[in-house]
Amino acid sequence: MSVKVAPSLLSSDFSRLNEEVRRIEKHGADWVHLDVMDGHFVPSITIGPVVVKSLRSQTELFMDAHLMVSEPEKHIEQFIHAGIDLVTIQAEATAHLDGALRQIHDAGAKAGVALNPATPASVLEYVWPLLDLILVMSVNPGAGGQSFIPEVLPKIEYIAAQIKKRDLNIELEVDGGVNRDTAPAIVGAGATVLVAGSAIFKAEGGMSLISDLKNIESVL
Ligand code: DX5
Ligand code: ZN
Repeated sequence: MSVKVAPSLLSSDFSRLNEEVRRIEKHGADWVHLDVMDGHFVPSITIGPVVVKSLRSQTELFMDAHLMVSEPEKHIEQFIHAGIDLVTIQAEATAHLDGALRQIHDAGAKAGVALNPATPASVLEYVWPLLDLILVMSVNPGAGGQSFIPEVLPKIEYIAAQIKKRDLNIELEVDGGVNRDTAPAIVGAGATVLVAGSAIFKAEGGMSLISDLKNIESVL
């Protein structure tokens, strides 16, 4: 089975977001990755539910929201009502990880947990049954265009092995610094969903990366 590709709109042209979504759709994107930043958990502020709702009316793509916000439990329902299919919260951003994951399910969406590069996989220990996705951050959250941190590769391998051992149906997403050079090792470590922002929207011929990443397993 090929990996899924979830282009991050963070590096797209925000003055024509709807067209950017149609462009990635045309080039075979599986999901669209929406980076939500609150100016608190990370310094930048990006998009909120109003923009999500507008995009929802323009695309059928599965919408993956990555909430880089403090106390995500205050915002979960708003994003789901705006049309998000899967809400991922940062493990470091809440004192109530179990409760927030249940809140996402209760509001009718799939649930994910994101781990910063220095956050150990042990935070997953008591929430495995609540997870549809685990997002391993391979840069420190807050901005696109950063370099991949190779120290996260053993964490990806460990989590992939745990999912297999526990026979769970959980996507393993990797986000940050994904490009033609770094993707083979990431997929080799067991990632099933690749997020890429600058390598798709800012690089020459970046749109072709979507199909190249989807077929990467066949060249490993
Ligand atoms: C970083 C975001 C990423 C980012 C990825 O805080 O979570 O989704 O947009 O961008 P690239 O692919 O440029 O590292
Ligand atoms: Zn992201």
